[in-house]
Amino acid sequence: MLRRLVSSNTVEFKKPPVPEAPEPSESVEPSMPAVAGKRAATDAPAARESGSGLLSATGTAGDEAPNGDLTNGGGTTDYSGVPNRRAIAENTYVTFTSDKHTELKMLIHQQLLDTMNLSVLDKMSEDQIRSEVGDLVRELLVENNVPLTLQEQQTLIADILDEVLGLGPIEPLLKDPTISDILVNCYDVVVVERFGRLEMTPVKFKDNRHLLRIIDKIVSTVGRRIDESSPMVDARLLDGSRVNAVIAPIAVDGPLLSIRRFATDPYTIERLIDIGTITPNIAELLEGIVRARQNILISGGTGSGKTTMLNAMAAFIDPKERIITIEDAAELQLQQPQVARMETRPANVEGKGEIAQRELVKNSLRMRPDRIIVGEVRGGEAFDMLQAMNTGHEGSMTTVHANTARDALARIENMIGMAQLDLPQKAMRSQIASAIHVVIQLARLSDGRRRLMSIQEVTGMEGDIITMQEIFRFDRRQTDADGTIHGAYVATGIRPKFIQDFDQRGIYISDDLFEPNQEL
Ligand SMILES: Nc1ncnc2c1ncn2[C@@H]1O[C@H](COP(=O)(O)OP(=O)(O)OP(=O)(O)O)[C@@H](O)[C@H]1O
Ligand SMILES: [Mg+2]
Repeated sequence: MLRRLVSSNTVEFKKPPVPEAPEPSESVEPSMPAVAGKRAATDAPAARESGSGLLSATGTAGDEAPNGDLTNGGGTTDYSGVPNRRAIAENTYVTFTSDKHTELKMLIHQQLLDTMNLSVLDKMSEDQIRSEVGDLVRELLVENNVPLTLQEQQTLIADILDEVLGLGPIEPLLKDPTISDILVNCYDVVVVERFGRLEMTPVKFKDNRHLLRIIDKIVSTVGRRIDESSPMVDARLLDGSRVNAVIAPIAVDGPLLSIRRFATDPYTIERLIDIGTITPNIAELLEGIVRARQNILISGGTGSGKTTMLNAMAAFIDPKERIITIEDAAELQLQQPQVARMETRPANVEGKGEIAQRELVKNSLRMRPDRIIVGEVRGGEAFDMLQAMNTGHEGSMTTVHANTARDALARIENMIGMAQLDLPQKAMRSQIASAIHVVIQLARLSDGRRRLMSIQEVTGMEGDIITMQEIFRFDRRQTDADGTIHGAYVATGIRPKFIQDFDQRGIYISDDLFEPNQEL
C-alpha cells in the first residue's frame, strides 16, 4: 500500500546509532526522552543538507552538525524548552511545538523525502498522499525507534504533511480564519495579527535554512525566484494571500516573511458597520457617492483597511457597468458580472519585461471601461488615472498611502512628478482638483480598530492651492483603560457640493445629516 510513494531508488534506511539515555528533567513526560534524546538523529538533517548524510554514512552520536546550529552538547539533553503540552493543545492553532518536536519533524521529513518517489505526488489525490505519508511516517518512527503517544504521532504526521504539502510551521496559521497577517521576523519569532492586534505565537522554523526553504517554495510556485541578486520578492499564495519576502543581504538577521492573508470572506459594508468602522448613515452617504459617480480617493496608512474599504464600496457599483481593475497584486474581489482584472508583472531575471500600472491604466482606456479601479496608486500611473477620471470615466476609484486627506493630495502631486511630464505645479494641482471629488480618510487606531476618520470633498482651486472641505469626521471622545477608543461621527455643517449630483441621479439623502454637530 505504501509502495506507490516509495521510490525505486530508495536510500537504504540505516538506523541511527542509539544514543545513551539522557537525563530527563522533571518537566518531561515519559514518552519524551526517546524523542528528545536522539541527539544523533536530530542532527541528521543538518548533516544531510551539507552532504554528509547520517542515514547513508555511519555517523556516531558524537558527530557535530557541520552548521553547528544544534546546541545540545555531550549527549545530555536540555528539556527546559519543552512546553506544557496541554496548554498548547488548548491553543487553536498550535498543538506541539517544542524544539525537540521540530527537530524530530525535520528528521522524519528529510527521511521521507529520501524514501519517497516525489514524481508520483502530482498524480495522487491529497487524501491518498495523506494516508500514505501517515503510513510512511509511522514506519519511519518504528525504524528510528521513536516511541510517541498516539496524539504526538498524529501531531507529527500533521506537521510533516504541512511540510510536504504546504508551508510547514505556518500552515496552521494560514488555516486560521481569525488571523489577518503572518509576520516572520526571524526563524523563531512568528507574530500574527488578529482583530487588529499583534500577537506572538509559539510557531518556529527550525533555522534560517528551513525558513528560506519555505520562502523558496512560495516564490518558485509562482515562477519567481529569490536569491542574493534579487533578495526581495512579492508573490501570491494559491489562496490569494499576498506575500513579501526579503532575504540577505537586505534582511540583516535572517529571512523576513510577511503574509497578508486573503480574506476568504471579504468585508462587506454591512460587516464594516457591525464592527464599527463606519455607521449606517455614513454607509448611506458612501453608497450615494459611488452611485453618483464621484471620483474617489481612499487614503490611509499601512494596513488601515484601504483595499478592504475600496472592495466594500465597489459593491455599490451597478452590475450593468464594466469595471476594469488594475493592481500590483490582485486583491480585490468584486462581485459584479463585468469585471476585467489586470495585474502588473515584475521584471524578469534580466530586468526585462516589466509591465507597470501606468501601462495598464493606459491600456484600460482602450477596453471600454465604465469605471477604472486602481488598487493603489504609487507612481506615475497617478497621472493617467487622473486623466481618465477627467475624461469620461467618472466614478473611478483608487487608494493612496497617506495619513491625512491633505497629504493624500500632496502624495498624488509627487506621483505626477514621477511621470516626468514636467508639468508646472499649478497645472498638476488643477488636474488633481478637477479629477478627484471625494477623499475618504481611514486609520488604524491604537486599539487596533480600523475607522473611517474623515470624508472630505475637493472643491476646486484658490490661487495655487487645492481647496477641500470636510463633511464628516470621527471625533475621539474617550479611551477606556484597555485602550478602546470611543467617539462619534459628527457633521461639520457643510452641505457638500456633490449633493447636486445626487439630486440629478435621483439619490435621496436627508439634509438633516449635514446639520452642524449632527451625530451619526
Ligand atoms: N474595517 C476593518 N476592521 C477590521 N479589520 C480590517 C478592516 N479593514 C481591513 N481589515 C483587515 O486589516 C488588514 C489590512 O486591510 P487592507 O489590506 O484593506 O489594508 P490596506 O490599507 O489596503 O493595507 P496596505 O497598506 O498593506 O495595502 C486585512 O487583514 C483586513 O482583513
Ligand atoms: Mg491595500
